[in-house]
Amino acid sequence: MNFAKVKAILLAAGKSTRFKTRKSKMLFSICGRPMIMYPIRTLEELGLSMTLILGHQSDQIKALVESENVKDLSFVIQKEQLGTGHAVHCAIDSWQGFEDILIMNGDMPLITKELICEALEKHEQSRAVLTFLSAMVLDPTSYGRVVELDGKFTIVEEKDCNLEQLQVNKINAGVYVINSKWLEANIEKISKSPSGEYYLPDLIKMASEQDTIIKEIPVPYDDVRGVNTLQELWNAEQIKRSEFIKYWMSQGVRFELAQSIHIDINVKIGAGSFIGTGVHLLGNTVIGEECFLGAFSIVENSKIGDETTIHSHSVIQDSVVGTSVHVGPFARLRHNVKLGNNVEIGNFVEIKNTQIGENSKSKHLTYLGDAEVGKSVNIGAGTITCNYDGVNKFKTEIEDEAFVGSNNTLIAPLNIGKGAYTAGGSTITHDVPAGGLGIGRSRQENKLEYSQKLLGKKKSKPLANSEIDSRENEAQGDSENKTEFNFRGAIKTNTDKQNNL
Ligand code: UD1
Ligand code: CA
Repeated sequence: MNFAKVKAILLAAGKSTRFKTRKSKMLFSICGRPMIMYPIRTLEELGLSMTLILGHQSDQIKALVESENVKDLSFVIQKEQLGTGHAVHCAIDSWQGFEDILIMNGDMPLITKELICEALEKHEQSRAVLTFLSAMVLDPTSYGRVVELDGKFTIVEEKDCNLEQLQVNKINAGVYVINSKWLEANIEKISKSPSGEYYLPDLIKMASEQDTIIKEIPVPYDDVRGVNTLQELWNAEQIKRSEFIKYWMSQGVRFELAQSIHIDINVKIGAGSFIGTGVHLLGNTVIGEECFLGAFSIVENSKIGDETTIHSHSVIQDSVVGTSVHVGPFARLRHNVKLGNNVEIGNFVEIKNTQIGENSKSKHLTYLGDAEVGKSVNIGAGTITCNYDGVNKFKTEIEDEAFVGSNNTLIAPLNIGKGAYTAGGSTITHDVPAGGLGIGRSRQENKLEYSQKLLGKKKSKPLANSEIDSRENEAQGDSENKTEFNFRGAIKTNTDKQNNL
């Protein structure tokens, strides 16, 4: 069939009353894609020219759709929401020159390309004036019922159904293909319902009464579910999510407790990867091959290289992680983080806007923000980059093979040179030259026999004089080695001396 002769009209002007939310239902996401974008993308894939009818929150929906760069789509505004028939009437100018008009509710995100093609093709083959989709459903509540009498169809909306009609399980799906000339001649003939609306499905009764050819196409209910309530949104999302999980299973991805996992529509996962319980994979995330994602981790708009392990309860956003990397448990890569291959990020480490070169490690209780960390660097536990003075952000550079001691406060802007060391417990305010040792901490002083003085009465064995001398010398730095430190910034021990450290 030549789809160039077909105009698609998508109805999305409704008030979303049954959602009971401030926001229009069209803007709610299903697996990371706003609901209205599902039928739009499906129609776009078929190469159909589209008119989107907007009303309630039209500015927000229009802005969203425009940002998605859809091919061949125009907008019509229905100022007052007087029903689906009125909405189609508002778009009358947009279908001039087209042979057939495909009309669809905008709240059916599960509709497939195949069904639309089937509808268009059968419409043409049967030379019908009007074709519509119907479905059988166990609980038809809220749908218009398809009532057939002596070969004539009528759609009765739920609020207008009598008791007998309420029992009908065949519903009007909300997808129609109509000959444009016939539509133009009849759209104005729809009369107001008792509730003051113009019902589009009344056209089915009108076509039936005029003895024109009407084609009914029965389709699976799941494909044409309407979304009028938050519960129906949840149903639709469950179906979409299951589709994605089943697809990735078929591509060699193992899911632990699959029913607890969330996957967005644009996520890609490499074969051999393991996705743990409760993992959320969001946005444009790409997971490599043979990865392990531990339970309850969240990865959003990020790329994870092959053979990488994300331990449980980690959160990764807008970041790129290399191959054979370890992250977490309880780690957070907040934004624009780039981790090279074989990097190890441990528990309670938060990283933002930072690049870390291959083989580097930061394994415990650390914040790295606006930093550039080279290769084979070790960041000690409890290190904090102080990147923000309350007004501006500053950069910390830690070059290849540097060793940052534990509990360091790195006051940016700062450069720690290649192979340099910083002493544990330091506040580093100045650059440390390559190969050097930066120490920035107050010297410890030991007060001898403090506890005895404090407790007064406590009897303890007096120390021998020689023992007192040696302890005092050590405490006051009176030895000849008083200014010498080993590479961790500790006072040199005899062993250090022997090892020439
Ligand atoms: C509609 C059908 C019903 C069918 C069901 C299938 C009518 C009157 N009823 O009911 O027979 O079984 O879909 O899901 O059509 N809209 C406008 N302007 C308006 C009113 C609605 O653009 O003035 C849009 C809505 O945004 C929505 C679509 O039309 O996308 C359908 O409207 P909705 O109120 O959801 O109709 P249903 O009660 O679901
Ligand atoms: Ca609906």
